[in-house]
Amino acid sequence: MQEKKSIHGAWASRWIFILAATGSAVGLGNIWKFPYIAGENGGGAFVLVYLVCILMVGVPIMMAEVFIGRRGRQSPINAMKDVAIEANHSGKWSFVGWMGVLAGFMIFSFYSVVAGWVLYYIAGMGTGDFIAIGSDDAGKVFNDLLADPQTLLIWHTIFVAMVMVVIVGGVKKGLENAVKLLMPALFILLLIMLGYSMQTEGFSQGFDFLFHFDFSELSWNAVLIALGHSFFTLSLGMGAIMAYGSYMPKKTSIGGSVITIAAMDTIVALIAGLVIFPIVFANGMDPGAGPGLMFVTLPVAFGQMPGGQIFGFVFFLLVGIAAWTSAISLIEPAAAWLVEKFGWSRVPACIVLGLVVWGLGIAALGSFNFISDFKMMGFNVFDFLDFMTANVMLPLGGLFIAIFAGWFVTRKMAEDELAISSPLLFNAWYIAL
Ligand code: TRP
Repeated sequence: MQEKKSIHGAWASRWIFILAATGSAVGLGNIWKFPYIAGENGGGAFVLVYLVCILMVGVPIMMAEVFIGRRGRQSPINAMKDVAIEANHSGKWSFVGWMGVLAGFMIFSFYSVVAGWVLYYIAGMGTGDFIAIGSDDAGKVFNDLLADPQTLLIWHTIFVAMVMVVIVGGVKKGLENAVKLLMPALFILLLIMLGYSMQTEGFSQGFDFLFHFDFSELSWNAVLIALGHSFFTLSLGMGAIMAYGSYMPKKTSIGGSVITIAAMDTIVALIAGLVIFPIVFANGMDPGAGPGLMFVTLPVAFGQMPGGQIFGFVFFLLVGIAAWTSAISLIEPAAAWLVEKFGWSRVPACIVLGLVVWGLGIAALGSFNFISDFKMMGFNVFDFLDFMTANVMLPLGGLFIAIFAGWFVTRKMAEDELAISSPLLFNAWYIAL
C-alpha cells in the first residue's frame, strides 16, 4: 500500500512530535489538578496507584492512538473510519472520533476558565497585588474573582484567542513553532521553581507527603480518580494524541516516543508536587485544600517569602504556558476535521470553533455566579463537565480505542505500524489492551 500523507502537514522531526505531545500532556492536569487530588487522597499511596495506571493503561493506549492516527493520516474522525475500513470493519468506528470532538469541546470549556484564572494571577503577581497577602485576603481575592463574571469573561476570551491564533497557523507555522518556543521555556521555569522550593524548610516534608506510601489512606474512589486522571493527564481517550500522531514522521518508533512523553508528563507532575507541597508545608498550610490549593494557598505563601513576587510570577507564567500548549490539542482534531470535510482554510474553521468553545466556556464560568444554582446530577456545570469528561468520556473513549486496536485492527497492521522488534514487548502491549 502506498504511504498516506496528511493534508495538514507533518512535524519536522521525531523530537517535534515528542515536544508537541508532551505539550499537550503537560498542562493544568499536572500542575493544578494532580497536586490537589493527591493532597485530597492522602498523598503517597495515591501517587503510586497513579504511576501504575500511567504505565499499565496510559502507555498502551497512547501507543494505540498514535498508531491509528499515523495509519489514517487524518483527523481522528476520519482516521478511525479509514483504519476500520482498511481492516474490513465498519466505517462507523468514526463515532469514537465524534465522541472525542465532543469531549474536547467540553474539556476546553472548563479548561479555558481555569486558564483564565491563571492569566489573571499572572497579571496580579506581576503588578504586585499579592505582596504580603494573608490567607483571608487570598481567599477573598479568589472568591471575588469567581463571583465576577465580567472579569472571568475577559480572561476566558483572551485565552480562547491565544489558542485560536496558534491553530490558525496550522501544523507547521502554528503548532510546531509554538511548542518549539514554549516547551523549553516551560522546562526552564519549572527548574527555577524546583530550585526555589528545595530551599524552603518544607521540602523534606513535601517529599515525604508525595512518596510515603500509606495504603490505609487509599479508597476505591481514589483508585478511580487516579485512573481517570491518568487519561486526563496524558491527553488520552479523545483523539488529541491521535491527531498529533497523524502528523508524525513514518520512520520513528512509536513505543519509544510514547514512553518518553509519558515519562516527561509524569516527571513534570511530580516536580509540580515537589514545588507546591514544600511551599504549603513551609507555611503551615493544608495540603488537602482542593481546587483552591494553587489559587489561594500558594499566593499566601509567595506573599510571605523573600522574592515571592518574582517567583509567584514565574510560577503562574509556567502554568499559563502549560495550559496553552494543552488547550491547542483539545481543538486541533475538530479543526483538522472541518478542513478535511468542507475543504475550508484554517481561518473560517478557527472562527467557528472559537465561537463554539467561547460560548460553552461562558456556561462553565457562570457556574460560579449567575447559574450557580443550576445543577446536573448534583454538579454545577463546571464540575459536571470535569466529571463527565475525566471520569466517564475519556476512560470510555480509551476503552473503545483499546478494543479497536486490540480486536478489530489486524495484528499485521499493528505490527507494521508499531514496528516493535521484540515479540515479547509487542505481546505485552497486546495483552495490556
Ligand atoms: N493533558 C492536559 C492536562 O493535563 C489536558 C488535555 C489536553 C487533555 N488535551 C487533552 C485531556 C485531551 C484529555 C484529552 O492538563
